Amino acid sequence: AGNKIRVQSFVQDGKMVVPPQYIQPPDTRPSQNLEKRIDQHLPAAPVIDLSDVNSVHEELGKSCREWGAFQVINHEVPLELLDGMMRVGRYFFEDCTVEQKLGYACDSNSPASEGYGSRMLVSSNDTVLDWRDYFDHHTLPLSRRNALKWPHFSSDYRNTVSDFSEQMSILAQKLLRFIAESLGLPSASIKDGIGEFYQNITVSYYPPCPQPELTLGLQSHSDIGAITLIIQDDVGGLEILKNGEWIPMNPLPHAIIVILADQTEIITNGEYKSAVHRAITNAKKARLSVSSFHDPAKTKIIQPALGPPKYQKVVYGDYYSSWYTKGPEGKRNIDTLRL
Ligand code: SIN
Ligand code: FE2
Repeated sequence: AGNKIRVQSFVQDGKMVVPPQYIQPPDTRPSQNLEKRIDQHLPAAPVIDLSDVNSVHEELGKSCREWGAFQVINHEVPLELLDGMMRVGRYFFEDCTVEQKLGYACDSNSPASEGYGSRMLVSSNDTVLDWRDYFDHHTLPLSRRNALKWPHFSSDYRNTVSDFSEQMSILAQKLLRFIAESLGLPSASIKDGIGEFYQNITVSYYPPCPQPELTLGLQSHSDIGAITLIIQDDVGGLEILKNGEWIPMNPLPHAIIVILADQTEIITNGEYKSAVHRAITNAKKARLSVSSFHDPAKTKIIQPALGPPKYQKVVYGDYYSSWYTKGPEGKRNIDTLRL
């Protein structure tokens, strides 16, 4: 059935051309800018040393204002846990059989359902599919967690995801404290504006693509929650839109990528913007990344913590539903709340 199609299966079938539903229209193809990119000297996204107490606020403030996306090092997350999370994620995609993986298939009829999936054609807005398979875990609050829905084929899979979840939540809170302080706000103001974290952890697997110039691993979007943390392997492919240019987020071993999302833009009253990003594919190597999304509860009312307000207040669940109704074409959905 339709909900059993995974991108990885095309590659295993040895297809040399991309099926039509994965071909981007000309203006969103990554090839569009390739020549320009070779000619130009693109700026590199910032790398921030979180242990440098003298500079961290200034660096974070500048990066949040100018980029909305950056990498952090000396983040105090155990490096072997980052390696462990990548290892178990890769194990699921590369070492399990198709039958084992489909035993964990998500429900393609409900949005953001937990498990193994690939984006399906669900509405007329869904014009093009992403060259990506994923496994989504509902990790926090603990009341949403049912680790029995997570793979068991590797003995340490579930413990690794639990430990990783805790560490990502701690780092997200620390970043939000620093980010609030960098605006001269009370340390807890952004976290309090978000409330309890609803955390999802998504392992993304981008199989090699026979025609990378025609496809996207993940189409252009901003994240709808508050703050996203990403680890990636050494392949590369994540890009950030800055001043109309797509800037690669270059792999840096053991760095953690931070992406500000729409609710942080509202709470900081637009001082800090959510970052538009996408993932490109490549012909030779599969790419693995793990994203940890930190969102408010659906009932939480989100509003600017400084004024005069430039955004309407919004119930997070309403924002979330409007995004899912519009589909991924609703990029920069946040602009609809500007006053
Ligand atoms: C994302 O979660 O938006 C991108 C993840 C990635 O870099 O693959
Ligand atoms: Fe994203």
